[in-house]
Amino acid sequence: MSTAVVYCSQTGFTEKYARWLAESLGTRAVPFADRASAGVAAAETVVFLSWFHAGGLKGARWLRSVMDARPERRYVVVGVGAYPMPSDEWPKSETDAGFEHAFPHERYPRLARFYCQGGFDFDRLCALDKLAMRAFFRMQAKEAETDPRAAFALDAMREGFDGTRREYLQPVLEHLRG
Ligand SMILES: Cc1cc2nc3c(=O)[nH]c(=O)nc-3n(C[C@H](O)[C@H](O)[C@H](O)COP(=O)(O)O)c2cc1C
Repeated sequence: MSTAVVYCSQTGFTEKYARWLAESLGTRAVPFADRASAGVAAAETVVFLSWFHAGGLKGARWLRSVMDARPERRYVVVGVGAYPMPSDEWPKSETDAGFEHAFPHERYPRLARFYCQGGFDFDRLCALDKLAMRAFFRMQAKEAETDPRAAFALDAMREGFDGTRREYLQPVLEHLRG
C-alpha cells in the first residue's frame, strides 16, 4: 500500500519525527515546500506531520483541501508541540483542542490524530515568531507566579529543550499497520 509522508517544520523537531516515521515505513519524508512531488495524488494513505502554532496546526488548510477532494482515502495527522505527552497533569483534552480547531470531528470523523512532544529552540525561530514568543514569555511570567504548570513551561522554553522520542510514534505505526 502506498503511503505519502509530508511534514511541516520550522525548527526541526517535526522533521525528526517525519524522518523516523518514513524510515520505519520504508518510504521518504517530503517537506511541505515540496509537497507537490510527494506522490499525494496517487497515495492510498496520506500522513501529515506538523507543529502546533498558537493553538492551530501549520499547513492544516492544505490537508483539509486534500481530504475534501478525496475523502475516501486514509488520512493520519501527527501534531507536534511543546506541550508534554498526555498525563494527569497535562490532559489529552488540551492537545485534542488544537486538533479539533484544525480538523473538526464533525467534518473529518475518519481522520486519525496523534500527538508527539517536540521541543523548543528559540534561536531557530523566524523573526516574527521570536517577537511572538517574547510577548508570550512576558505573559507567562505573570502566570508563573501562581501557576506551577506555567512556571514549568516557561523555564523549559527559556532554556530550550528536545522532548522528541522515537517511541512516541509507536501508536502511529500500529495504526498504519493495523
Ligand atoms: C509562535 C509559536 C507558537 C506556538 N504555539 C504552540 C501551541 O499552541 N501549542 C504547543 O503545544 N506548542 C506550541 N509551540 C511550540 C512548537 O509547536 C514546538 O516548538 C514544535 O516542536 C516546533 O516544531 P518544529 O521544530 O518542527 O518547527 C509554538 C511555538 C511558537 C514559536
